[in-house]
Amino acid sequence: MTQATPSAAQIADALRQRVIGQEEAVREISIALAKKLANLSTGNVLLIGSSGTGKTTVMRAVEDYLTSNPVLADRSTLVRVHANILAEHSTGGRAGGALLRRILDRAREQLGPEAPVDRLMERVGTAMIFVDEIDKIRAAVGDQPNITGIRAQEALLTLIENESVPFVLPEWAGGGTVAVDASGLLFIGAGAFEGLYDSVYDRVTIGRDRGALQAVSVMEGGEVRQELRFSLRDWLRHEDLFDYGMSPQFLSRFDAVVLLNDLSEDELVKIFLDSPESGFQQAVAYFEGHNIQLAMSPAAVRRVAAAAAAQPRLGARALKEVFRRVIRDYEFEPEKAAAGGTLMIDLPEVESALD
Ligand SMILES: Nc1ncnc2c1ncn2[C@@H]1O[C@H](COP(=O)(O)OP(=O)(O)O)[C@@H](O)[C@H]1O
Ligand SMILES: [Mg+2]
Repeated sequence: MTQATPSAAQIADALRQRVIGQEEAVREISIALAKKLANLSTGNVLLIGSSGTGKTTVMRAVEDYLTSNPVLADRSTLVRVHANILAEHSTGGRAGGALLRRILDRAREQLGPEAPVDRLMERVGTAMIFVDEIDKIRAAVGDQPNITGIRAQEALLTLIENESVPFVLPEWAGGGTVAVDASGLLFIGAGAFEGLYDSVYDRVTIGRDRGALQAVSVMEGGEVRQELRFSLRDWLRHEDLFDYGMSPQFLSRFDAVVLLNDLSEDELVKIFLDSPESGFQQAVAYFEGHNIQLAMSPAAVRRVAAAAAAQPRLGARALKEVFRRVIRDYEFEPEKAAAGGTLMIDLPEVESALD
């Protein structure tokens, strides 16, 4: 069976089933993926976004998209790793090798133990690698060098765009050292880069580029006020990421740097209602098990989203925390509050739980 390679727009449609908003990230990754699946070369992508804005969700969405489609699953191998493990495995001069080994194992899982080693090794050189929490491998923290971060960046550098990486085959593959052409690997890194926002803000207000960010006049209640409007998107430069601890050699291997947005209240409402991992959906399933239909009024949902939005550092994760406070007493005694098989949560219930 043959199937045309999916277009970037088709991939984006699939990803949007799971990812709310973050259009720029969805598009950039869809393009990279479309090229990859068509065996064309494509640049690596770096995602930067606050905690809980969907970085890992995007990666999982891609994973699910590829594994749920047998034709695509047969064409691609994907691994998702935490950047931290790169540092762990990079000690003892085996830089990069551990990651290749992981891909090899994954390819074998996909193609089966009978698959010829040549075919598996072909997969190894053309895999997709998601490096999550990539901000954890900064080369320096403050003015202290961070040895594990430096090692991890070096480990990745030995792989990115390298046409000949020595790789020790495991016993089952015959042993011995082979050269892997790693130039076909696609890397997608993601991290929160906590503190980046503040440091760039400082640079353009009180630091090196003092005065670059100009106040604008805004009208409020009939009065004109001066206000600084700052958006990381407008001001982020590569140098800020160098300062953060990403080495220039390392960073230059990423063609696209994409910023994820902080989620709006509307987006939080959507995530709360629709995301399969949302606390609300989990509660719905729990009450279903007790033959109770859980429902929330739109006003109640909005109140939960507003409370979550007021905790910007947590992103959508705040939804879970806020909703726990609302739902826990009902979950303790499910039958108690349900009338005629339905548990309806309205605004007053949310208000009193959050007070
Ligand atoms: N843009 C989004 N679309 C859908 N769900 C999201 C989004 N952002 C966050 N979430 C939800 O919030 C939780 C944390 O998101 P995650 O992707 O792990 O954040 P991070 O950016 O820190 O990796 C997940 O349960 C996910 O379902
Ligand atoms: Mg994450």
